[in-house]
Amino acid sequence: ASAVLGRATACAHANIALIKYWGKADEALVVPTTASLSLTLDGLSTQTTVEFLGDGDAARAESDSVSLLGDDETPAESAADERTGRGGKADPTARFDLAAPDGSVGDPTADSNTIPDTLTIDGVLQHGTALARVSRFLDLIRERAGISAPARVASRNTVPFGAGLASSASAFAALAAAGSCAAGLDLSGRELSRLARRGSGSACRSIYGGLVKWNAGHDDATSYAQPVECPMDLAIIVILISAKEKPMSSREAMRLTMRTSPLYPAWVRSSADDMTRALAAVAASDLDALGEVVEANALGMHASMMAARPAVIYWLPQTVTALSAVRDLRRHGYGAWSTMDAGANVKVLTAAADAERVASELRDRLPGQTIEVHHIGSGVRVVE
Ligand code: PMV
Repeated sequence: ASAVLGRATACAHANIALIKYWGKADEALVVPTTASLSLTLDGLSTQTTVEFLGDGDAARAESDSVSLLGDDETPAESAADERTGRGGKADPTARFDLAAPDGSVGDPTADSNTIPDTLTIDGVLQHGTALARVSRFLDLIRERAGISAPARVASRNTVPFGAGLASSASAFAALAAAGSCAAGLDLSGRELSRLARRGSGSACRSIYGGLVKWNAGHDDATSYAQPVECPMDLAIIVILISAKEKPMSSREAMRLTMRTSPLYPAWVRSSADDMTRALAAVAASDLDALGEVVEANALGMHASMMAARPAVIYWLPQTVTALSAVRDLRRHGYGAWSTMDAGANVKVLTAAADAERVASELRDRLPGQTIEVHHIGSGVRVVE
């Protein structure tokens, strides 16, 4: 039996921003240029187990992938995975944001990691960028806990349709909670949020359920998320337009926008005003006012990307069709507003009570597209 020093499993949900985070004031610490506001959703979750191993188990951690696999994996499959490093399956990095470097824990390709951690995502052993990014994140935890033990990390996702749906947020929120707990750290919600932020900015918001505000702050200590009281019962409808890997990581796209877009400073200025208006609308239970500012904030963010040199365009033709379907629904009296992230998919804000009706109208207008309703989800929790 291997000497497991500490083991913990945590579950976290993805979140969708209503007022967006786009651009880092401090790349290394992931301090954003603007505050952001999000809804944590049910249904889109990551469950991650972290085990820190005794020093004698380091070599074992390097070779042992079988014990990381779920019951649905056969040992034969896992042995093949181990030899090939991928087992002939679809490349999981193509549908998991962990593998899309946004650089928040340093350059994932830099060769500074000497601790032999292992990582499986949905049963598939990972190498390269995804592993390096997780290892560097675990280094933050090891440093804080004063340990140097290697870790076995196993992550499972219940993202119903593949990709581009803020999986790095649920992934790093779950990893922060499981990793810190396995290392014997007892972190407060604020400390967990600060830690998760280093893995992926938006992950700091998935520490909490419901409506969450990420205070931009000006350094590591002041940049964290906190829950916001929300008297309205809201829902998000996801219109899945593309499950393909995004053409440019959010890290790269943010950098390019900040450096070259003449519209970016204007978006940053209007974002502060958008946040004030959004919080006032929430406090007043005014969904029309909230929806209006949510749609404007996201379209403004994309306008700033499109004005970058070269342009960053995540939109596909179906994106425009979906956006106009949502505007058409509003003309017909429905309370529905669009938002978009670093991808072609469109997410629609509605009242929870209207969500099924709005989703069914959207299915009529957008035949053949996957359209799913997500209600409010809970914050990260250690489940084991
Ligand atoms: O957390 P990141 O680095 O993947 O950035 C996410 C950025 C957006 O999804 C586009 C906006 C947001 O606030 O979530």
